Amino acid sequence: MEPREFFIEDRLEKFRLKAFCNLGESGLSHFLLEEVMEMGQISWKDLSEIPLNDSPNQGSFALREAIADLYPGVSPGQVLVTTGTGEALYLAFHVGLTPKARVALIWPAFQALYEIPKMLGAEIIKVPHDRAFFASTWKEIDADLYIINHPHNPTGKTFLDPEWEAVLTHWKEEKKTVLFDEHYRFLPGSGSLGKTGVDPNYSFYGTGSFTKCFGVTGLRVGWLVAEEGFLKKARSFKDYLTHTVSPISERIALGLLKSKESFLPKIQNRVRENIQMFDSLWRDLPHVKSFVSPAGGLVGWLELEPGISSEIYADKLFEKTGVFVLPGSNFEEEGYLRIGFGEREEKMKEGLFRWKECTDLI
Ligand SMILES: Cc1ncc(COP(=O)(O)O)c(C=O)c1O
Repeated sequence: MEPREFFIEDRLEKFRLKAFCNLGESGLSHFLLEEVMEMGQISWKDLSEIPLNDSPNQGSFALREAIADLYPGVSPGQVLVTTGTGEALYLAFHVGLTPKARVALIWPAFQALYEIPKMLGAEIIKVPHDRAFFASTWKEIDADLYIINHPHNPTGKTFLDPEWEAVLTHWKEEKKTVLFDEHYRFLPGSGSLGKTGVDPNYSFYGTGSFTKCFGVTGLRVGWLVAEEGFLKKARSFKDYLTHTVSPISERIALGLLKSKESFLPKIQNRVRENIQMFDSLWRDLPHVKSFVSPAGGLVGWLELEPGISSEIYADKLFEKTGVFVLPGSNFEEEGYLRIGFGEREEKMKEGLFRWKECTDLI
C-alpha cells in the first residue's frame, strides 16, 4: 500500500521560490551557508577538513550528545539522527505500530502524522484542535498510540502547564505510548526552549529538529528519541532507507546546536514580532472571520468567511499580490488558510499591506 499524494507539497514546490512574500512555508526564511557558518561558529577551514566518509549509522556521538542535552534524562544512546523529522516519523511508525492500531492525533495535522499510520493499516482518531489541548479530552480516548504535535502545525496551539501536567500524569498512570512531535520546540511563545513530553522511562517517544526554527531546512537533519530497544529497531530500518546523514550536515548541525544561544533570541523576536504584526491587522484582510494568535511555533490558522474556497482564495491572493499562503483544503479542512510567520519583517509588512489593499480578491 502507498500513502496518498502529500497535499501541501505540489503547492509548496510551485510557489515557495516565486513568492514575493512567503507565508506558505512552515519554516523560517532560509539563511545562506555563509550566514549559517557564522551562526554555528564554523570556519571554512573546519568545513574543508570534514572527512567525507559515512557518518556513524546512528549519527555522530557529538551530535547525539548535543541533542540528548535538550531533553532531561536522555542519553546519546537514546538518540537516532535522521534525514529530517519526516524520516524519524516514518521509522517510529514502522517500528511502533501494529496493523489496526488505534492512533489518536490533533486535527487538522501535518499529513505524514496520519498518512503513514494509515498506510500501515492504523485506524485514525481525529481529535479536533479546539478540544485537543485539554487533558480531559485525552482521558476519554482509548488509543494504542497518541501523537502530540506541539506547538501545533497548523494552529500554533500548545498546552497550558496544568493541562500538560495532567495529561502526562494520566498517560503515565495508564502506561500509554505517546509520540511527541516537537519540531517547533525552539520557538515557544515565551522563554528560549519549549517544554518536552519525551521520557524514555515511559513509552514517551520524540521526534524533532531545529531546521525550521533556525532557517536551515536544506540541512535535512532531524532525530528520534526513544529507549534503546525501540531505537535499535529504528536504526536497523534506517539502514535500508537513508543509511547515514551527510557528515557536512551533521557538522553544521552540531555547531548550530552548540551556539544557539547567540542567534536564537533574535530569531524568536522576529517570529514573535511577525505574529504581533499579523494579529494587529488580520481583521482588515478581505473575507476573513477569525484568528487565534499562535502560542508557539511558526504557523497560525486563519478562518475565512463561510462559503469561500480556501484554494481559490490562496490562488487569487498569489496572483494579485505575490503573497503565498496555504489553503486549508491541503490539510483536508476547508474554510481556513495556514499562515507562516517565518518571512523577513520587511517582506511580511509589504505583503500584508498588499493583501489588505486587495479588496477585489474574490
Ligand atoms: C509537525 C511536523 N512534523 C514533521 C515535519 C517534517 O519535517 P522535516 O522537514 O524535518 O522532515 C513537519 C514539516 O513541516 C512538521 O510540520
